[in-house]
Amino acid sequence: MTDFSTIYKLSVVAIIYLIQACSSSCPVLDCWYVQEKSGRGGLTAATTQEKSLIYISTDEHRHTAESQRTPSDVNHDRVYFFNDPAGTLCLPSLNPPKGSVKKSQCEINPFLPHPSDLRWVAPLTDSTMSPLYLQADWFTTSHQDFKRQLTISSITRAPTASKEHNVILSVTSKTLSVQSRLGEPVLLDCGFWVDPSSPLSGSGFAVEWRYQFRGEGRLVLAYDGKSDRLADTREEGAMLDFEGLHEKGNASLILQEAKVRHSGMYICTVYLPYVVAQVAVELEIVEPPSLSIYPSPLPLVVPGQTVVIQCEASGFAPLPLELSWEFKGADGKSRSLGSGSVTGHRQAWDGTYGQSTKLELNTANMDLGRGGEVTCVAEHLGGTQRASSNLSVIGFSVPSIEDSMAMVGVALVLYGLIKFVSWTFISSGSGEADKQEKKDK
Ligand SMILES: *[C@@H]1O[C@H](CO)[C@@H](O)[C@H](O)[C@H]1NC(C)=O
Ligand SMILES: *[C@@H]1O[C@H](CO)[C@@H](O)[C@H](O)[C@H]1NC(C)=O
Repeated sequence: MTDFSTIYKLSVVAIIYLIQACSSSCPVLDCWYVQEKSGRGGLTAATTQEKSLIYISTDEHRHTAESQRTPSDVNHDRVYFFNDPAGTLCLPSLNPPKGSVKKSQCEINPFLPHPSDLRWVAPLTDSTMSPLYLQADWFTTSHQDFKRQLTISSITRAPTASKEHNVILSVTSKTLSVQSRLGEPVLLDCGFWVDPSSPLSGSGFAVEWRYQFRGEGRLVLAYDGKSDRLADTREEGAMLDFEGLHEKGNASLILQEAKVRHSGMYICTVYLPYVVAQVAVELEIVEPPSLSIYPSPLPLVVPGQTVVIQCEASGFAPLPLELSWEFKGADGKSRSLGSGSVTGHRQAWDGTYGQSTKLELNTANMDLGRGGEVTCVAEHLGGTQRASSNLSVIGFSVPSIEDSMAMVGVALVLYGLIKFVSWTFISSGSGEADKQEKKDK
């Protein structure tokens, strides 16, 4: 009996241990260790790149057993152990399933802590702090998940020559790329976490958003978290959620109204004293075109006549736009009429584009029957738009019921008219004859 209960107890313990191990296991990350070579003359900053492996744990004392599994193609010196109490890096999507086409990205670089001169960052290093803490091995890491949704950048610290790093600061964005319609509010996600046990926490932070497009950069806003004030805003309608910023490290940028010129790269940078981490988020403003067909309505055409139809696409962004024409006859079948003669695009004051196409429809050599529906089709990143107008060909060789009825009507009217004219003529003629007869008598 005692044996049985011991076995029972042991198996329960084993199961609990197994469940714990499974639920708290973080991925092992394949990473590139990239280091700038100190080149002679220092003109060309050559880099070296080595395969590396990072074991992630949310608990400081969990690493030892795992270190045995190092693959042979990774240098043993490039195997690191990250302790990440917030679990920011403990995500399955940072480690794609074996054989997956999409890869996650990971890069580690050595980092040198340094104070910043920026007006909204400099106050952070005013207070004296033990420089001893800074004398350690510092890394900056950047990660992107294989779904291309998430980007994380971290600053880690290990006692000199140790490979056991603690995550000190991590900056995350869950919206690696954002699409927005014109005029809508936009949220560019950015959040950060600071190790509360680090001496760098509690001395304040600063947040900066920069915009970059085709090599051009500008400041969007800068926030000095130490004195709790916006140090600079260069973009009307750009805001932070200050409460969320202090309570939860929510540094997301809010743009009240999306404009075409907002398309580009946004960089969220979080500063602590001496260290900094940043993530980049791509914003694209996508607005499909509005279409209109001229002339409206289309004129009635007779067989043999050429009719010119124009389709105007306006208010769209970004380029390009594909314009084409379709025709749907009375039989309900659709066919392409090609793209017509497409004009170059022009840009409106709000940055949106306009473009048009002209279709010359020759009713003689196109089999249009009695007419049908002419459609202008605009294919755009924001979706395919269509505009239609009805074209009627009149006096077609096989008359329609309406045409026949109209003809019968016209014939009846003509007949009536002839009858009337001839009757008045005959009756007046006979009157004359009567007079003549009377004279004769
Ligand atoms: C961050 O703040 C924005 C704006 O208030 C909010 O919409 C968003 O949900 C917040 N994100 C998190 C993770 O709390
Ligand atoms: C064209 O005519 C058809 C059939 O009468 C009608 O259903 C359709 O709504 C018309 N289209 C336009 C753009 O007026």
